[in-house]
Amino acid sequence: MIDFHCHILPDLDDGAPDWEHSVEMARIAVADGISGIVCTPHLSPVFPDNDRKAVMASVEQLRIRLRKAEIPLELYPGAELAIDSDLGEKIKSNEVMTINDNRNVALIEMPVETIPPNIERFFWSIQSTGIDIVLGHPERNPCLMKDPSILFRWIQRGVMVQVTASALAGKHGHQVRDFTVNLLKRRMIHLVASDSHGPTRRRPGLSAARAVVESVIGKEEAHKIFCENPQQLLLGTVPDFAPPLQALKKTSFLQRILTLRS
Ligand SMILES: [Fe+2]
Repeated sequence: MIDFHCHILPDLDDGAPDWEHSVEMARIAVADGISGIVCTPHLSPVFPDNDRKAVMASVEQLRIRLRKAEIPLELYPGAELAIDSDLGEKIKSNEVMTINDNRNVALIEMPVETIPPNIERFFWSIQSTGIDIVLGHPERNPCLMKDPSILFRWIQRGVMVQVTASALAGKHGHQVRDFTVNLLKRRMIHLVASDSHGPTRRRPGLSAARAVVESVIGKEEAHKIFCENPQQLLLGTVPDFAPPLQALKKTSFLQRILTLRS
C-alpha cells in the first residue's frame, strides 16, 4: 500500500517533531503493510516556509536515515497545499511541491469547517494549468455532509477525493464514518490515506481502513484505492475512474440530529 498523505517529515509543520519520531512513524507504517509514503507537509499561511526546496531536502535526509535504520520504505515528495488564489502561478513557477514533484497532481487541503467562496473558480484555475487535484479529507466538512451533491459536482468536474483512514475506522464519530462509507458506495472516493501526524497522533496505518473498504466494495476495488491509484498518480497519470453514482440526498438539520443520536 502507498500512503498518499502523511506528515512524516520532521519539524516542518504540526507533524513529526524530530527525526526520531519520523523514523518511528516509518517503522509503524512498514509493519502495517505500507511500502511507500508521500511526504505531505502543510504549505499554508501558518507554515509558509515549506516550499519545494525545503521538502526535497527533508525527504533526502529522511531517506538516508531510513537506509541506515534498514527500514524498507520508499519516500516520495509532496505537500498539502492550502487554498490560495496564487497557487496555480506558484506551481507553474516550480515554487511549491506537487505530488512526487511531477507538476501533474496537487494535494489540496479541504478546510475542515467551511467551503471557501469561489472554490470552484479556484479548482478551475489550477486545472486549467494542467494540474489535476486530489482533495484531502472532504469527509469531515459539515457543509459537504449536509449537501454531498456539491462534492459530487466537483468529482464530475475532475476533482479526485482522498479520505482519511481514521474516518473509516470511526475515529471521528459515527456520522463521519457513515458519510464516508456512503461516499465509498457511490464511487466518490479515489484514495484513502493516513494523514498521520506522529507515532501516536493519528498514527500511520492503512490496514484497518482497507478491511472496511474491502467489506463494503470488495477486494478488487480496495486494491485500486490503496495500491493502484496512488501508484499511477505518483507517475503523474490520472487513473481511469468509473463515474460517481448519483449524489446522496441533502439531509435536513433534524435528520442529522437524529443520525447523531442513533
Ligand atoms: Fe494533512
